[in-house]
Amino acid sequence: MAIKKVKPILCSYLPNNIISNEIISQMVDTSDEWIKSRTGIEERRICKDDYSLVDLGSNAALEAIKKGNIDPAEIDLIILATSTPDDLFGSAAKIQYRIKAFNAAAFDITAACSGFIIGIITASQFINTGIYKTVLVIGADVMSKFVDWQDRSTCILFGDGAGAAILKSTIKQHILGFQIKTNGELNSELTLSSKDLLQQNIAIQVFNRQYNFIQMNGKEIYKFAISKVPEAILNCLNTYQIQIEDIDWLLLHQANIRILKAIGEQLSIPQNKILNNLYKYGNTSAASIPIALDEAILENKIQDNDLIIMAGFGAGLTWGTVIIKWKDKLN
Ligand code: COA
Repeated sequence: MAIKKVKPILCSYLPNNIISNEIISQMVDTSDEWIKSRTGIEERRICKDDYSLVDLGSNAALEAIKKGNIDPAEIDLIILATSTPDDLFGSAAKIQYRIKAFNAAAFDITAACSGFIIGIITASQFINTGIYKTVLVIGADVMSKFVDWQDRSTCILFGDGAGAAILKSTIKQHILGFQIKTNGELNSELTLSSKDLLQQNIAIQVFNRQYNFIQMNGKEIYKFAISKVPEAILNCLNTYQIQIEDIDWLLLHQANIRILKAIGEQLSIPQNKILNNLYKYGNTSAASIPIALDEAILENKIQDNDLIIMAGFGAGLTWGTVIIKWKDKLN
């Protein structure tokens, strides 16, 4: 009997326009040394011209379709995790059309840097109920379009990118457990908020909405990440009775190398088990986890039956954890 390939198919897509710390140092009062030592970031990718979120997400999805040798008509559902859609009505439908997945339902979810994890968890619910067999989850963000490039406390951190995962119905054997948490009380610590402007010269009083740049209290977000994320990971492991020693890889949202290290230390997970590609791409929000997973697979780091803990965290504030067993065969 032929072996069924059941692992999720992963692909990532990054703009080829590289912005180094040196370039940013010419724009704001900072330095390569400061950015590297405080964040671990050396460069990031930024979309040029009018390259859109739909372009990024579609390209990642098309690569995954090609890699998995999948007929786009097989896809039942597309979940696009993004906080930076091209269209506030959602961008998933446009991606559905672009990749010719004409049978797929498609919708966006907004959960900032936890978006991909929540997308995977959502996909697994549809799969577990037997409603859908093939689900495409895309994590994509064009943070560069929402960053104030004159604000050194935020512009050094973010980059653009997309990652796509195609989950087949057998994925239920891989997701061993998950947890999603939210604390809206701290919402104002990290926002991409809007302001309403009174429209002049119209008979009725109406306000039109405009978006502000990303605003962040870096210290508070740092403290939140290094306290809440390890706590959630431990809770999740306890719930499913998995020991920390059994974890092969820790894949955290790529926000800051110091956050990755601090969480690893608190969990007693050695540095060589923590996946990190932050130095190349910075914080790509919902895209960071699938991009890092795709790269780890390409580098043959992740082996069959490895246990991976993935955790996203960010605005909301939201944080989410998934435990995955990576395997090739049904057994
Ligand atoms: N270059 C040089 N100096 C900078 C700087 C920059 N890009 N940004 C801030 N500074 C300065 C500050 O003005 C401050 O100067 P002061 O002491 O004279 O007031 C000093 O550096 C320290 O600033 P601070 O904010 O305390 O730095 P930090 O060590 O907390 O690092 C972050 C700042 C943003 C890197 C860090 O807080 C962080 O990563 N937080 C989490 C952010 C995050 O991950 N967000 C996304 C979550 S999804």
